Amino acid sequence: MEVLEKVNELNEKLKDNSAEEIVKFFLNEYKNDAALSSSFGAEDQVLTHMMLKFDQNANIFTLDTGRLPIETYSVMDNTNLKYNIKVNVFFPKSEDVEKLYKSQGINGFYESIENRKACCNIRKIEPLKRALKPLKVWITGLRASQSVTRVDMPLVEWDDNFQVIKVNPLISWSEEDVWNFIKTNKVPYNKLHDQGYPSIGCAPCTRAVKEGEDIRSGRWWWENPEHKECGLHAK
Ligand code: ADX
Ligand code: SF4
Repeated sequence: MEVLEKVNELNEKLKDNSAEEIVKFFLNEYKNDAALSSSFGAEDQVLTHMMLKFDQNANIFTLDTGRLPIETYSVMDNTNLKYNIKVNVFFPKSEDVEKLYKSQGINGFYESIENRKACCNIRKIEPLKRALKPLKVWITGLRASQSVTRVDMPLVEWDDNFQVIKVNPLISWSEEDVWNFIKTNKVPYNKLHDQGYPSIGCAPCTRAVKEGEDIRSGRWWWENPEHKECGLHAK
């Protein structure tokens, strides 16, 4: 069957299922050919909990850019300890990071969108490509209400950039749904969420937002909202 047909069929089949049922379906069908990419943000922690409850050996990986906040490393550690796992880590290639430093210095990403994209490419996109290469299904914590760039994202899609089926089980969840799940199930979470950070990426490119401000307004805050995707989820 054509992959696009397959994706349509999956969307139709799963449209009324809960996130938990969707996760179980993909783990059953694809086993370790399906993996969650986790940034240890609230949504990813919900999915980690759901996946590990169902399969202790579920495939979960993170991209350690080398610029993450210390609070993210703490929740990574707490998650590994609580669930008795070791999340797989993909690091950027050291020779690429060295070249990047030579060309734009240590914080060159503030100077231009090109510099910022070059940094995201080396620290996130290339490692993500490597992580996804052996996989068939990529599970993410994306939600439609996170951003103007995400409102039209479907539950299941074909990702042409990375050549995998991409599944967003929380696509229709609200922020409240996420926090209710975390509190009810005592899921470890990033303490920066308690300090005004609804969305957390690299430390130098993330800041707290004020009450009522857009969820992702603290990410690459110096750039225009329509361009604020790092390439992980760009169309
Ligand atoms: S980003 O593209 O702007 O960085 P965001 O932080 O909203 O993405 O997270 C959306 C989803 O992208 C997460 O639920 C997760 O699946 C994936 N993701 C983002 N950052 C990482 C990371 N460092 N490691 C693994 N997955 C990530
Ligand atoms: Fe580099 Fe910032 Fe992108 Fe992280 S978010 S990879 S520090 S530009």
